[in-house]
Amino acid sequence: MLRVGIIGLGTISAVHLAVIRKSAQAELVAACDIDASKAADAPDCHFYQDVEEMLSQEKLDVVHLCLPHYLHVPMALLANRYHCHVLTEKPLGLSVADGERLVHPENPEYKIAVCFQNRFNQTTIKLQNILAETQAHVIGGKGLVIWNRGQDYYDASPWRGTIVGSGGTLSNQSIHTIDLLQLFCGPFVDCRAQLLHLTDMKIEVEDSSVANLHFQNNVRAYFNSTNSYVTDSSVELEIVTTDSKFEIRDGELTETLKDGECRLLASDMPNTEFKSYYGSSHGRLIEAFYQSILENTSDYISVPEALKSLAIIDAMVQSSEDKDTVNVTR
Ligand SMILES: NC(=O)c1ccc[n+]([C@@H]2O[C@H](COP(=O)([O-])OP(=O)(O)OC[C@H]3O[C@@H](n4cnc5c(N)ncnc54)[C@H](O)[C@@H]3O)[C@@H](O)[C@H]2O)c1
Repeated sequence: MLRVGIIGLGTISAVHLAVIRKSAQAELVAACDIDASKAADAPDCHFYQDVEEMLSQEKLDVVHLCLPHYLHVPMALLANRYHCHVLTEKPLGLSVADGERLVHPENPEYKIAVCFQNRFNQTTIKLQNILAETQAHVIGGKGLVIWNRGQDYYDASPWRGTIVGSGGTLSNQSIHTIDLLQLFCGPFVDCRAQLLHLTDMKIEVEDSSVANLHFQNNVRAYFNSTNSYVTDSSVELEIVTTDSKFEIRDGELTETLKDGECRLLASDMPNTEFKSYYGSSHGRLIEAFYQSILENTSDYISVPEALKSLAIIDAMVQSSEDKDTVNVTR
């Protein structure tokens, strides 16, 4: 059994805690949050308010980081120093430069994995398999993240609204969809993008973005995100090949052929326990990570993998500042 600890008992930690508590591969040993009132969320393990105290006392095998973005890299490095495997919530860091600090940690035999749970969706896996098996020629893609986040969302955790705290809305809300776009369309080459403030929310970060992403072999993707809508629409991902069009929306993967015939190829389990837009794949990702530790495989989303979406976001931010096309930085 892996001895597991969790750092950060805010909004997303409930999803991690539910998986850890149910896991046959792990036991919840300790939890840490600077806010003493959060002890109530983890009454079944030791509670700490200081990360280093927890790491030095508990001899943990794995720690989950459910922390503000600016703490992901320093806390991952600290946990690595204490010989812990790390699963950090997305993004890997604030930027490529920040995330790259995890490429060669002090103890490289301890894994660092990133929580892109949508890679474990049935719809994602099915589309990956189809594209690989049919050797389909991808010519383009589209990603839409049309959501609602109000001032209350930012006021509840002020780091979310600052550049130094979160990096921006792209890193916070859009990164899963950007990650899937690069998975199907990549490798990334360059982009032209604009980051926008469409609302009057008192936040430093953009609330919306639009981009034209260019991948190798002249594959192009259109991307659009906003937090200014009245509700959370389903994320939409479209991948176009020379023969057909694949769409993932509302947890379903469909294929539309050139003659207009549309067929359902896969469905994701709806998330009825937590917010639906988290998807239902945290459990699969966490269990797969535990298995990769126990069997010492590299079957998890690694630091180099997680840097790919950060590189696109860095380029989008730079393009918006420069009002010009920006090439991949790594
Ligand atoms: N994968 C997903 O679908 C998904 C969904 C939501 C959030 N997230 C990610 O989860 C992470 C956390 O987001 P959230 O919305 O839960 O944040 P939050 O602000 O609700 O919670 C963060 C918690 O960390 C605690 N904390 C801050 N500094 C600390 C420190 N030094 N030591 C210990 N605890 C500390 C805070 O007190 C708070 O309880 C972010 O990376 C976010 O992007 C991922």
